[in-house]
Amino acid sequence: MRILGIETSCDETSAAVVEDGRRVLSNVVATQVEIHRKYGGVVPEIASRAHLQALLPVVSEALAEARLAMDDIDFVAAVYRPGLIGSLLLGLTAAKTLAWLHGLKLIGINHVESHIYAACLERDALPFPCISLIVSGGHSSLYYSAGPRKHELVGATTDDAAGEAFDKVAALLGLPYPGGPSIDQAAERGRPDAVAFTRPWLSRTSLDFSFSGLKTAVLYHVRGHGADVKKRAPELSDETIADVAASFQECVVDVLVGKTLRAAEARGVDRIIVGGGVAANRRLRARFQEEAEASGIEILLPPMRYCTDNAAMVAGLAYHYAEAGQFAGLDLEARA
Ligand code: KG4
Ligand code: ZN
Repeated sequence: MRILGIETSCDETSAAVVEDGRRVLSNVVATQVEIHRKYGGVVPEIASRAHLQALLPVVSEALAEARLAMDDIDFVAAVYRPGLIGSLLLGLTAAKTLAWLHGLKLIGINHVESHIYAACLERDALPFPCISLIVSGGHSSLYYSAGPRKHELVGATTDDAAGEAFDKVAALLGLPYPGGPSIDQAAERGRPDAVAFTRPWLSRTSLDFSFSGLKTAVLYHVRGHGADVKKRAPELSDETIADVAASFQECVVDVLVGKTLRAAEARGVDRIIVGGGVAANRRLRARFQEEAEASGIEILLPPMRYCTDNAAMVAGLAYHYAEAGQFAGLDLEARA
């Protein structure tokens, strides 16, 4: 079964063809990073326009790379929630149009669920049941995943998402957009124990996250207590930037790894999926690998290309919806 998947929830336009849920025949991603760079963040209206321009070429390229035509496709899938509403509408409308035009059934996909599924691509067997940690620009969530379509929320952020914290702290340190990869790089030259930021554990048993206080702690550390984020930042030395980046990153990684292992123990599972843009963080990957190994837990970390937004995870997950006969009508609505 071959499925064409479309992903446009935020600022990447992506189309992919995946066979039987696991074999990625193509995965084309047109990123808008350069377009949004000068604004220091994604501008929704501009993102929608860029999707409109990129969508059809990206779909054509995904088919060409897979050496297939629309006649070889069995189903069309697209993300319908959550994300930027304008961005979602473009991908979903393109998918509906293709489905209608070629007489194919449509499958609506939840973006967060597809991030979990990214770890299943190109693997022989499905890893469920497991604990799934999804850390991206919009989410920091822990799930007990019983199957590709069955996820129970066991912990979530009470304020900022992990990726959002990376992006905001990078901006505070004057590091280039997008912030996550910038912190990752700067941290390489810094000392993770240079600044002892308080770990936001919340409580001994809590599986929820909170990164907003940490962001404020970084602000006060670099600009003084009670500093205003809107005021012009003082010049920071390269050494200070690297040390603060490394210390901040270590703090976030400690909490993410600690709570995920705590969840695995609480639910008695020995497998963990990590997904979402922040799963591309090298320190997070290394720490998960070290600590999971030490506690006999298998860690499933998708390759970098499947961590950030992509359509392969959408087309892959859609296979399980098709198998279950769960299709969407052409009246499926996008939800922000
Ligand atoms: O999953 P994603 O591509 O889009 C959303 O669904 O939000 O995640 C984007 C987020 C951004 O906040 C970005 O800064 C973060 O992932 N990110 C990273 C790294 N690469 C991307 N954060 C930390 N370290 C990285 N290497
Ligand atoms: Zn995402």
